[in-house]
Amino acid sequence: MTYLILGANGLIGQQFVKLCRGKNIDYVGTRFSREKGDLKKVDFLDPDHMREALENLCPTPTAVINCVNLAGGVNFCEENPGPARKLHVESVKQIVDWCNNKNAEFVYFSSDYVFDGENPPYKEDDPTGPLNLYGQLKLESEIYIREHMQHYLIARTTNVFGWDPDTPTPNFLMYLYQTLKEGKNFNTPAYLYGNPTHVEDLVKAALELLDKKHYGLYHIVGSGYIDRYDWALKFCRLAGLDQSKIIENKEPPKNIVPRPFLSNLNIDKVKKLIQTKLHDVDEGLQMLMAEMQKSVR
Ligand SMILES: NC(=O)c1ccc[n+]([C@@H]2O[C@H](COP(=O)([O-])OP(=O)(O)OC[C@H]3O[C@@H](n4cnc5c(N)ncnc54)[C@H](OP(=O)(O)O)[C@@H]3O)[C@@H](O)[C@H]2O)c1
Repeated sequence: MTYLILGANGLIGQQFVKLCRGKNIDYVGTRFSREKGDLKKVDFLDPDHMREALENLCPTPTAVINCVNLAGGVNFCEENPGPARKLHVESVKQIVDWCNNKNAEFVYFSSDYVFDGENPPYKEDDPTGPLNLYGQLKLESEIYIREHMQHYLIARTTNVFGWDPDTPTPNFLMYLYQTLKEGKNFNTPAYLYGNPTHVEDLVKAALELLDKKHYGLYHIVGSGYIDRYDWALKFCRLAGLDQSKIIENKEPPKNIVPRPFLSNLNIDKVKKLIQTKLHDVDEGLQMLMAEMQKSVR
């Protein structure tokens, strides 16, 4: 059994690497701009050469786990629709077709941004309505996967976090941590609600679903729901950081790329099938504190 982990040095990808090592699952990993260990460079903005690169790297994968993301996120996608489509749709289609040829399973991470945030909480089969290009492209890939594959796992997730203070693509809490460590103020969107999701829970849940062959579309997020301001304050209190540097923004800026402000994903479907606990906000922060203390020791 070999897992091919694409984007294996990112937030979600490196957690797959860690858990595969712990479970003695063979894996091969790719990266893009940052060298790391024996990860091989593959460029998903060049979908035509991507298949050849994957073929050379791992000709018979049991499962392909796509954790690739475009640096710059939602804003970058909106401003760069060409590269965004290449990475978020064209490369995914290539991988799906390749997986089908290889009889390999496929794991894909989608987003709460497939919804408009008007009617939360959302179940898996609720109507979608993305507000921005990133959400549209994620949805387009979801549809292609569902129409062309049998053995797939699509995990819609959001607000993923874990301890990684040196990353150049920080998650919300790491960005907050880096900013406060530099003594700067941190503007926090209090109008933005979501489900904080510890990356370990997300990846454990995905591996459990894969292991049990529960294919399909799932919401996999933490079991809590909170706005970014309160989440930031809770983190600061636990980490002993200066709360006075957190600036509460109550209204979205006029030029913000549209996004769902009230984003709450219902996780009943996945909870019925797995043992992995999807921790709430406080429990997730406690997990983060344990990682933080380990890293500074
Ligand atoms: N994080 C979240 O809160 C969240 C929420 C919903 C959905 N998702 C989805 O989950 C997936 C993984 O997200 P993440 O947060 O783990 O991403 P991330 O930490 O930003 O990692 C992105 C990975 O993609 C690689 N990469 C970047 N550009 C590439 C390119 N042109 N070709 C090939 N690889 C490239 C990076 O390699 P280098 O670092 O070497 O350049 C890195 O390994 C994405 O599909 C994202 O849409 C994430």
